[in-house]
Amino acid sequence: MSVVKENAAMAALEFVESGMTLGLGSGSTAEIFIEALGDRVAGGMKIVAVPTSKRTAECAIEAGVPLAEPDKVDRINLTIDGADEVDPAFNLIKGGGACLLREKIIAHASDRMIVIVDGTKMVEMLGAFPLPIEVDPFGMALTAEQVFDALKTTGCEEAQTVLRQMKDGSGPLITDGGNYILDSKCRKIPNPADTALALSQIPGVMEHGLFIDLADVIVVGEADHARVIELARD
Ligand code: 5RP
Repeated sequence: MSVVKENAAMAALEFVESGMTLGLGSGSTAEIFIEALGDRVAGGMKIVAVPTSKRTAECAIEAGVPLAEPDKVDRINLTIDGADEVDPAFNLIKGGGACLLREKIIAHASDRMIVIVDGTKMVEMLGAFPLPIEVDPFGMALTAEQVFDALKTTGCEEAQTVLRQMKDGSGPLITDGGNYILDSKCRKIPNPADTALALSQIPGVMEHGLFIDLADVIVVGEADHARVIELARD
């Protein structure tokens, strides 16, 4: 297990209080958090959690974290999730694990979002990590054209898009929601809010991996501690 990811996860755990309804993110850092949360639950902490992917649900069950269906909770107090990139304004790229649609549904419904990362995820400008875009398989090539235009017109340095494949080569990756993922190599996304808006207007785009104005706290794991950075929102 990565020590820096573990330090980020343990620091995020300090924000969790008994009685909370939590959103549980996806990815390797989120899974370390879920395991540690399971220990707290075993020690008597009373929480209930909504998972953002099938894989996260399996991890939570294994760790003994009680789960709730998203439609059975009326609010989510706090979501803890990982990210692929974080910029100085706390804008994120997410979706490296192909869970971005459900992650965004839960983050958007949460009172607060804490992002747990290692220092390599902190960037001056988003875009080196290919931007994941979840699209309906129907008319995917037409959607990809519109994605290209949206990226170019909002100033992205590049806009080359590839359809994400299964690791075993068996065909396109299918998300938990039954969609495809386009990965767009933008290199630089200088206007993330504009790009997010343009992508949201394309009917075939189910959701994109730009998380704008959603993260409240970034916890950066270091070798021997974690840095907690809080954004002061107006
Ligand atoms: C999944 C995600 C993950 O949070 C992101 O890919 C980071 O993963 P990891 O903690 O394994 O680096 O967005 O869709």
